[in-house]
Amino acid sequence: MILSGADVTIEKKQVFRIAHISDTHVSPEYNRRNITKLRDLLAHIIEEGFDHIAITGDITGHGEERGYRSVRRLLKYFGLLDYDKLSVTIGNHDIFGGLHRAEDLLTFGRHCRTTNYAEKLRMFERAFRETFPKKAYSEENLFPFVKIVGPVALIGMNSIRAFHPFLNPVGSNGDVSDTQLEEADRILRHPSIAELKKVVLIHHHFNKYEPCSDSFGTTLYHRFESRTLKLHRKKELEKLFRTAGVDVVLHGHTHVEGVYSRQGILYSSTALTPVRAKNDGAVHYGNAGLRFNEVAISDEGGIEVIKRGAVAYPKGSSSRALDKKLLGE
Ligand SMILES: [Fe+2]
Ligand SMILES: [Fe+2]
Repeated sequence: MILSGADVTIEKKQVFRIAHISDTHVSPEYNRRNITKLRDLLAHIIEEGFDHIAITGDITGHGEERGYRSVRRLLKYFGLLDYDKLSVTIGNHDIFGGLHRAEDLLTFGRHCRTTNYAEKLRMFERAFRETFPKKAYSEENLFPFVKIVGPVALIGMNSIRAFHPFLNPVGSNGDVSDTQLEEADRILRHPSIAELKKVVLIHHHFNKYEPCSDSFGTTLYHRFESRTLKLHRKKELEKLFRTAGVDVVLHGHTHVEGVYSRQGILYSSTALTPVRAKNDGAVHYGNAGLRFNEVAISDEGGIEVIKRGAVAYPKGSSSRALDKKLLGE
């Protein structure tokens, strides 16, 4: 559209904007504040008029039914349980949960070993069912999915590795099965999406993990997790992304925000409240604001990923009654 004035001509570009959120860790039991933070962040994103929202896992803090129900109530409240408005992928906390107290260190391995992976996957699917493509799913084929929204093909992958006493003792390591890789390969090279921008949603990261925090508890937790934060078959995935023309990969998991490029592909990393801004050791966002990334796709085909947020959330928010309702209390 060209807007003409007497002295100025402004060309208004059409831009398709995706808000990338991750690691919201909503849990009525362990992370009660996160429902308020997510509510404020979603309100902000909606007000800004984004075209789509993508959430890349660890949506719940402990993979519990109550956590899923809380997020579902919140998404329903904002009218976001909608194929065209929202896409989600799964994180390790959505299946195995996480360490929330020091004493959990002693019992968490057993908790992971006895977690029913398939049941958790079904719980995840039920919670966000309106956002997935309409086909008959089973736990085997929920991922990868492909959705076409505006000028974008969104491909959701599950990078959560099954429990293994040595290879995945606390559930936070990643892997992608042969079947999933083959199916993702088939989807990504399909002629029907050749002209679209290809955006992959996956929980695990591709960059170097550099945790940093001014909170002793968080540092301890991330030190512990850093020993078990590995994505198996990362190189195979990168090769697939590169050869199949993926444009942007959205991920979370490290809780470190950043935008980076590897082999011509843009990567967007974020978390609801990151442990710090990458390359900026002086700034800690832990209690200072809410973060998300913006993926902007112009109608001329340009793509930009921008770190966003620093949305102030009111302390002792006035909507406590709403939050209690969302938490099911
Ligand atoms: Fe997380
Ligand atoms: Fe994670």
